Amino acid sequence: MNFLTYLMHLAGSGAVAYYSAAQIRDIKTRPNILAGYQLAESGSVPFLTKLGERAAAEGDTWLAEKLAKHAADETRHGQVFAHALKQLDKQVIDFTNQPKSQPEETQTKKPQQRSPFFAAFFTGYTSEQLKPEVIDWNVFMGSTYILELDASKDFARMANVLPDDDAVSRNLKLGMLSIAQDEKGHASYLYDAIARRMPSSQVEQLIDVWRERKTKAMLAFARNLLQRKEETRSLVRDAVPAEKEPELVTV
Ligand SMILES: [Fe+2]
Ligand SMILES: [Fe+2]
Repeated sequence: MNFLTYLMHLAGSGAVAYYSAAQIRDIKTRPNILAGYQLAESGSVPFLTKLGERAAAEGDTWLAEKLAKHAADETRHGQVFAHALKQLDKQVIDFTNQPKSQPEETQTKKPQQRSPFFAAFFTGYTSEQLKPEVIDWNVFMGSTYILELDASKDFARMANVLPDDDAVSRNLKLGMLSIAQDEKGHASYLYDAIARRMPSSQVEQLIDVWRERKTKAMLAFARNLLQRKEETRSLVRDAVPAEKEPELVTV
């Protein structure tokens, strides 16, 4: 990583870390951020599962096992956030089940857009190239290594701003600290996976490429946040009573 990238990374991650910490500490904004994490964590499971199957089909049992464990961990992470939402009497809105507000033919069909973060992070790659059936292994490993490494620090940082004085926040804090540990483990096996494929000088080169991309993506994300280009839609709704859970369950 060159020095400029390093400085940009610190600036980008500092601003975004401050933003997420403030969002999770505030009880009013907490549900939406929890819902975002639930969707992201659970959303990664089909991708990782398919990738694990591909590794097995290609004869890499070591990688297949790591990916299967990775998918199981991300399933659990999604459940931790779902549970935290339930404790706040909220749940994620199932957008696939929403009644249509306009008749089919008058609906404006917007092409599916990538978030500014992912558009910047994966610049030069089409969505087609990023599918688990075809994604270049180096692209998957380099990009995911950086994201997991940073996620482990971000989750720990966010956990530590949660107050200890109420049971619900304390429970979420413990859940997030255990997630942070898992993410660290994911970064570690991905590093090993890269190191199995190339000499160490190339490992560092690949990691530098994705660190630089992440830095640019964070700046794109922060810029978007400041300009508020996209309307932020609520990802949560009140839980219906039958779906509520009894108080305090350990995660
Ligand atoms: Fe996760
Ligand atoms: Fe992870």
